[in-house]
Amino acid sequence: MTEERYPESPSPPPSLLKGEGGTKGREDVALVRERVAAAKNVMVITGAGISAESGVPTFRDDNGLWKEFNPLDYATREAFRRDPVKVWKWYDERRVNMAQARPNPGHLALAAMARPGRRVFIVTQNVDDLHEQAGSKEVVHIHGSLWRTRCERDGTVLENRETPLTEVPPPCMCGEIMRPDIVWFGENLPWQPVEQIHHYFLEGRIDLCLVVGTEASFGYILQWALQAHEAGAMLVDVNPRDSGLGSIIDVHLRGKAGEVLPKLL
Ligand code: OAD
Repeated sequence: MTEERYPESPSPPPSLLKGEGGTKGREDVALVRERVAAAKNVMVITGAGISAESGVPTFRDDNGLWKEFNPLDYATREAFRRDPVKVWKWYDERRVNMAQARPNPGHLALAAMARPGRRVFIVTQNVDDLHEQAGSKEVVHIHGSLWRTRCERDGTVLENRETPLTEVPPPCMCGEIMRPDIVWFGENLPWQPVEQIHHYFLEGRIDLCLVVGTEASFGYILQWALQAHEAGAMLVDVNPRDSGLGSIIDVHLRGKAGEVLPKLL
C-alpha cells in the first residue's frame, strides 16, 4: 500500500499543476447537472469550505484558523507532548462550536444526489460529521474525527461527544491521556480510509468527481482527483476561488457550495 503522509510543513506545497496552460474550467452548471443526471458513480472530495456555511471556520481563508493560530502549536504531536492542556482546550472550543453546527444545503444536496442506481462516494478532509448528519451513507474521513479520542499507548479509540469536556485532557483507562483522533502535521494518514479509497478506485468507471471547498494543498488530494479523471470522471471544482487543482479541472463552478450544489440536482 502506498503510504500517504499529511505534510510535515503546515504551509501548502506549491502545486505543480497550478498555472499550467491556463484554466480549462468554465462556469457551466447545466453541463454538470446533465452529467449528474446520467451518472451511476460520483466521487466527491470535500474540504473545510463545504462546512463554512454551517458556521465552521476554514483553515486558509482570510478568517481561517491557520491565520489566527500557528498549527505548530496546535496540530503536531510535539505540540501535544509539550502542552496537552493547551492543545485540548483549543480542540474543546472547536468541539463546542461544532456541536452547534448543522448541515447546510451543500451537504444536503450531496446526500440527495445518492439514490438507487447512483453511488455517491464522499472522501472528506473534514473532522466534523455534517455529511453523515445530512444523510450521506458512504463517507470516508481521511483526517480523523473531532468526536473521537485515541490513546497512543494502548490504542483505545473512543467516541466522545461531551461538550465542553469535563476533564482536560481526557484520561484513558490505562492511565495515559487521550489525544484527539485527528491526523496532525507530519503524521501518516490512517490506513483504513486510504484502503477504502484504493478499493473504490479498483471498482471501475467514475462518471463525475466533484471537488468541493478545498484548497487541494496536499499531494494525495491532487492524486485522487487525477485518478478519478483517469477513471473517466468529469472533474469539477466547486469553490468561490481558484484552488490548487489548477488546470487539471474540466469545469470550475465558481460559488459557494451551499448555493452551487443544490443546482446540480
Ligand atoms: P482550506 O481552509 O485550506 O481551504 C478552504 C477552501 O474552501 C478554500 O479554497 C476556499 O476558497 C473554499 N471555500 C470557502 N468557503 C466556501 C464555500 N462556502 N463553498 C465552497 N468553497 C468554499 O481547507 P482544506 O482544503 O479543507 O487538516 O484544508 C485541508 C486540511 O488542512 C484540513 O483538513 C485541515 C488543515 O490543516 C486537519 O485539520 C487535519
